[in-house]
Amino acid sequence: MSEDKGVTDNDVTIPAQSKGAVVTRSGSSGEVAPGEVLLKVSGLQKHFPIRSGLLKRQTGSVKAVDGLDFDVRSGETLGVVGESGCGKSTMGRLITRLLEPTGGTVEFEGRDITHLGVRGMRPMRRDVQMIFQDPYSSLNPRHTVGGIISAPFKLQGVEPEGGVKKEVQRLLEVVGLNPEHYNRYPHEFSGGQRQRIGIARALALKPKLVVADEPVSALDVSIQAQVVNLLDDLQQELGLTYVIIAHDLSVIRHVSDRIAVMYLGKIVELADRRSLYAAPMHPYTKALMSAVPVPDPKRRGTKSERILLKGDVPSPISPPSGCRFHTRCWKATEICTTREPVLVELKPGQRVACHHPENAPDQAPGEAVLPEARESIEVVTIGAAASEAVESEPAAEAATEPEAATEPEAAAKSEPAVKSEPAVKPDPAAKPSTGAKVKAEAADGEGKAGASEAGVKDAPASEAGSSEAGSEGTAQESTDK
Ligand SMILES: Nc1ncnc2c1ncn2[C@@H]1O[C@H](COP(=O)(O)OP(=O)(O)OP(=O)(O)O)[C@@H](O)[C@H]1O
Ligand code: SF4
Ligand SMILES: [Mg+2]
Repeated sequence: MSEDKGVTDNDVTIPAQSKGAVVTRSGSSGEVAPGEVLLKVSGLQKHFPIRSGLLKRQTGSVKAVDGLDFDVRSGETLGVVGESGCGKSTMGRLITRLLEPTGGTVEFEGRDITHLGVRGMRPMRRDVQMIFQDPYSSLNPRHTVGGIISAPFKLQGVEPEGGVKKEVQRLLEVVGLNPEHYNRYPHEFSGGQRQRIGIARALALKPKLVVADEPVSALDVSIQAQVVNLLDDLQQELGLTYVIIAHDLSVIRHVSDRIAVMYLGKIVELADRRSLYAAPMHPYTKALMSAVPVPDPKRRGTKSERILLKGDVPSPISPPSGCRFHTRCWKATEICTTREPVLVELKPGQRVACHHPENAPDQAPGEAVLPEARESIEVVTIGAAASEAVESEPAAEAATEPEAATEPEAAAKSEPAVKSEPAVKPDPAAKPSTGAKVKAEAADGEGKAGASEAGVKDAPASEAGSSEAGSEGTAQESTDK
């Protein structure tokens, strides 16, 4: 299904279907053609103050987002990935203007919305919507589903054709829910159904940009696939532009045209999906990618290696000097500890912030790797035979097997990161099979990848059918309006 995105080697791709989608809706400041910049973020910062003492004086700040620069183009899906606490949700709330930025600018359709007040933001609220991380806490338990989904109409003073109730029931159908459940309360729905309610609410006013914060992370694997496919269908039908935040690389690979990798409040790599997965350039991206399961059955069972980062993520209150990743990077040199690398385009469509990138000329050649850097990772070799063994073993059984990663450790030491040859082969996708922990992860990762990749076909017929029928309805309605 991700192949549907039609990624080209160098260019940013826009889903083909979106290009032709006819969407009529109330605009805020003008229409942006598919492929043109819809959202532009420059130097975006959010520092949460830390206050202490009787007088609540500011004694420091959490640098949750610390200088982001990126564009989102109309019709595309930008995936944002990174470890917990790296600032993904904060970034999502900043670009939807649910948080006031500390610095930088946010432009939507060429208009600076960085410091718009409530009144100024009102027309924009119709165009920029957010799907929240937790479907359990993001819906008011005292309101019926009808009340929740009709709230945006009331807040914006919009009277849809045929009335609010009819429109809300149509939206319920679009997201694959029973319109008869209009009067039910959130607790009467499952997690997946609640997330669909959140999606219906976000789509009520036919937005142009939807920021989805971990839209499936609270759901189990089979439901994840249904919600991901629903988002995909809606994008094609309505020509939506998405920023999808997730920490699950299988989900990100499935949904994204381009991917931004965040680390401690910064974007360290921004590239189209294919380039990023085929040849990651930032060491952090490379470590993340080495954990992604292989989706191609023909390539399964081939030998590969997985990079395990040893240290904890540093505190965003006092991030490391220079490159923020230098405390965990196996390639760190002196310059990495003092000079912050700038996010620059090292290959067409691939921007990286690193002095010693992978798969590209060294930006600071001649520097010696710091002795402690060599100890910062563990490389686990994933062998063909072991992979097959894992496939035939139940996950629980695999998790109890005390197999140690001794050989890989030796490999890590014998092939230090000083060499320009990366510790991991160019194909970063690995099917982990060595070591108890890795095996357990493999079972999980495979499940997710399988659900995402095959989910469209595997989704229960009733759900898929109703969602598809509903989506057609949406496109029709949109065109009519
Ligand atoms: N309102 C707040 N006040 C103070 N600190 C905050 C606030 N919101 C977030 N933070 C801090 O900002 C940092 C980034 O948080 P954020 O929620 O954006 O991370 P995240 O990448 O979305 O993590 P996760 O994957 O766990 O959702 C964290 O260190 C968090 O503790
Ligand atoms: S090589 Fe240096 S600049 Fe690049 S990620 Fe590692 S520490 Fe950062
Ligand atoms: Mg978050």
